[in-house]
Amino acid sequence: MTEQHDAKKRQVHDFWNRASCGEHLYLAGSDRAAYEAQAEARYRLEPYIREFAQFENAKGRRVLEIGVGLGADHQQFAEAGAELYGIDLTERAVAHTRRRLALFGLKSNLSTGDAEHLDFPDNTFDLVYSWGVLHHSPDTPQAIAEVHRVLKRGGGQGS
Ligand SMILES: C[S@@+](CC[C@H](N)C(=O)[O-])C[C@H]1O[C@@H](n2cnc3c(N)ncnc32)[C@H](O)[C@@H]1O
Repeated sequence: MTEQHDAKKRQVHDFWNRASCGEHLYLAGSDRAAYEAQAEARYRLEPYIREFAQFENAKGRRVLEIGVGLGADHQQFAEAGAELYGIDLTERAVAHTRRRLALFGLKSNLSTGDAEHLDFPDNTFDLVYSWGVLHHSPDTPQAIAEVHRVLKRGGGQGS
């Protein structure tokens, strides 16, 4: 790992830790109503996310989301009944997603983590999902290699 790479990673962290994606534009508070309104805006403005992610197919599958952000998609996977894991580079996104899931009585295994060095064994997940994240990481090919490593043979990926 070069110093330049570490500096870029730190920049990415600091940028998203000041405000999670869409926080200033679409999140007006930290209660259920605020997260519901943010999700409503998200899926109204980007209806193709639902079509792509097919959250409803996650029931009973072991799913990892990389880069949970405010946690709207993570909530969808949890509501669908996935055995769910989520990481984000930033403490802020993990805090948002933890709060959000708690408010709705949902469960996930959430932690800070780096897409380029996933802290999971090989062949762990049925599905690895990531929306708008991997291209932000300084070594995107390394992050994609990690997705392949943790996916079970025949598992799915989405980004
Ligand atoms: C554009 S936001 C997208 C968030 C969310 N997926 C969404 O669609 O709203 C990018 C997110 O990726 C996270 N991120 C960037 N690089 C990462 C990395 N190497 N590992 C994990 N998360 C990362 C950022 O912290 C940020 O929360």
